[in-house]
Amino acid sequence: MKKAPAAREVEKLKELIRRHDYKYYVLNSPEIPDDEYDRLFHRLVELEREYPELATPDSPTRRLGDRPLERFKPYRHEVPMLSMDNTYSEKDLEEFVRRNRRILAGDSFEFTVELKIDGVAVALLYEDGILVTGATRGDGSVGDDITPNLRTVRSLPLRLEGKGLPPRLEVRGEVYIDKKSFELINADREEKGEPLYANPRNLAAGSLKQLDPKITASRRLNCWIYSTPYPERLGCSGQHQLLGRLRAIGFRVNPHYRRCSGLDEVIAFSREWQDRKSELDYVVDGMVVKVDSFDLQRRLGQTSRAPRWQIAYKFPAERRTTRLRDIVVQVGRLGKLTPVAVLDPVEISGTVVRRASLHNLDEVERKDIRVGDEVLVEKAGEIIPQVVSAAKEKRTGKEKKFTMPSKCPSCSGPVIRPEGEVAHRCENISCPAQVKERLRHFASRRAMDIEGLGPKLIEQLVNKGLVATVADLFSLKKEDLAGLERMADKSAENLVSAVGEAKERPLDRLIFALGIRHVGSTAARTLAVRFGDIERLAAASAPELEKINEIGPIMAASVERFFQNRKNRELIDRLKKAGVKTRRDEGAGAGDELAGRTFVFTGALEGFTRPEAEELVLARGGRPSSSVSRKTDFVVAGDNPGSKLEKARSLGVKILSESEFRKMMG
Ligand code: IVH
Repeated sequence: MKKAPAAREVEKLKELIRRHDYKYYVLNSPEIPDDEYDRLFHRLVELEREYPELATPDSPTRRLGDRPLERFKPYRHEVPMLSMDNTYSEKDLEEFVRRNRRILAGDSFEFTVELKIDGVAVALLYEDGILVTGATRGDGSVGDDITPNLRTVRSLPLRLEGKGLPPRLEVRGEVYIDKKSFELINADREEKGEPLYANPRNLAAGSLKQLDPKITASRRLNCWIYSTPYPERLGCSGQHQLLGRLRAIGFRVNPHYRRCSGLDEVIAFSREWQDRKSELDYVVDGMVVKVDSFDLQRRLGQTSRAPRWQIAYKFPAERRTTRLRDIVVQVGRLGKLTPVAVLDPVEISGTVVRRASLHNLDEVERKDIRVGDEVLVEKAGEIIPQVVSAAKEKRTGKEKKFTMPSKCPSCSGPVIRPEGEVAHRCENISCPAQVKERLRHFASRRAMDIEGLGPKLIEQLVNKGLVATVADLFSLKKEDLAGLERMADKSAENLVSAVGEAKERPLDRLIFALGIRHVGSTAARTLAVRFGDIERLAAASAPELEKINEIGPIMAASVERFFQNRKNRELIDRLKKAGVKTRRDEGAGAGDELAGRTFVFTGALEGFTRPEAEELVLARGGRPSSSVSRKTDFVVAGDNPGSKLEKARSLGVKILSESEFRKMMG
């Protein structure tokens, strides 16, 4: 397509997509089906790929996330973003109203009362209706310029609607993530063994601080806009009117606000939302009460830190007492044991709480929580219930202290607590609580690479009792798979043959696939080369393992422990009997001719890249290392060698030229 018609089509598409975004995200009433929207979007991506200069800052494609930044630039706010006074009681609220009445001496006034959204405050600058800058609050005077990240927030307009817009307009609002997305993201992180976010606000803040906008885009952030430092530019005289005007020019404005004429109405409206807040799919931690008239706001002015005309009326954290009936232990998908409080059911913020995580043994001991205690339970971040404390003064003497079981509640295997860690764990790879996750790792691409064995299939295989450990995979027959969902003859055949192929994977893959804690694929390779046989690895003691350069004490202890576990050794036997290769390949120069010899490379080699050269050393049982010491056997010096060469000379380490190295490698 020629550029001129492409430019016209791009303009049309941008306009259409913008309109549909507004309908969908702001008005919450989509006009076209999703696939039709996707088609428009895709077409725009295509055209902009052909003519990148057409991808203007207001193009909806920018929402997919620009290239990563190196750091955020500071952004100085034109009008400082002040903070807000807080109150927790109706009495304080009364004082707030009384004080304002005193200052305004007789003039009558109204309030606009809004929900206080528990998210992250942002400022957005529009020039000629186009979003040019978005920033965090920072210290109120200077924040971070996070424009590319804010562009990914779908409900934030990149271009404003309507006529008579001021040439420059700043608005402020709250970026947040809804409760459901928060839970999904945390569940996903848990699966990957990544640390969890404590509440949706932390997740929203963390997402906005990503240097890679694509990560921000993947988090599905959302936004409510509630103010501007220049209401007169929008021709508004009060907050209530402003909210309507903000919505009309394209912003997403929270619908649950009300104009109230006095304290009683403010309190009634606040109470209503304290009761109803659990109906919302985002976290609200109170109400914001604002004097409605901007004239009066100006007359009321501000103290050094906060305006006098508005106040946050925070909901009390909802807490209830109940009885702790038991502490059970849950085994996580990667073997972590978590004590969980079993409670007499109690309603908190609209949901019935029956269980609460106690996190780990240290936590239980620190709070001195015992079975039978009366406990105080609260919902942190309004979502995850926590046991705050135990009523020690109400104890009868019959309460029981909690201890970690010595056997895994799922498989009866030994429970261990690795040195320096707070968590207790079960490290049996066949533990029923862990088997799905273990299978997923075992079959993954960098491990045994079993094509077609994805999470959905694993789910079915385990649930139907066809597979209980990774060894069972190797006895699966085509007939076993017949009854599974979406398993045609052909795919059953493919899976059986993929499993068959996996038997031939090199030893390092198998070691990695076992999922020994702290053993990644590089360490697995070192171990495979060094021991050559899983039996020999299994017999190695921690001190023996530690002698290997790349293996530190934590990994050594973990490997030793793994193979000391009887169930893991049984599993290895079964794998072997099933025909899985458990020795290192003969041939391909495989041998131990360099066993235990360390090589350090310095300077550029002509015939190999650094990784290739290291691979050759590994394949012969040698060990590449990055630093020269008395223990180094050879230093291979290429072009422009660095200080390592001098060090080698001074220590009397044998130095090889590239051609000598080549000869040695055969
Ligand atoms: S008015 C000082 N209105 O609460 C700026 N703020 O705890 C106040 N917030 O920093 C702007 N919902 O990020 C206002 N409807 C609302 C709000 C709101 C949430 C946040 C805001 C502020 C924080 C203070």
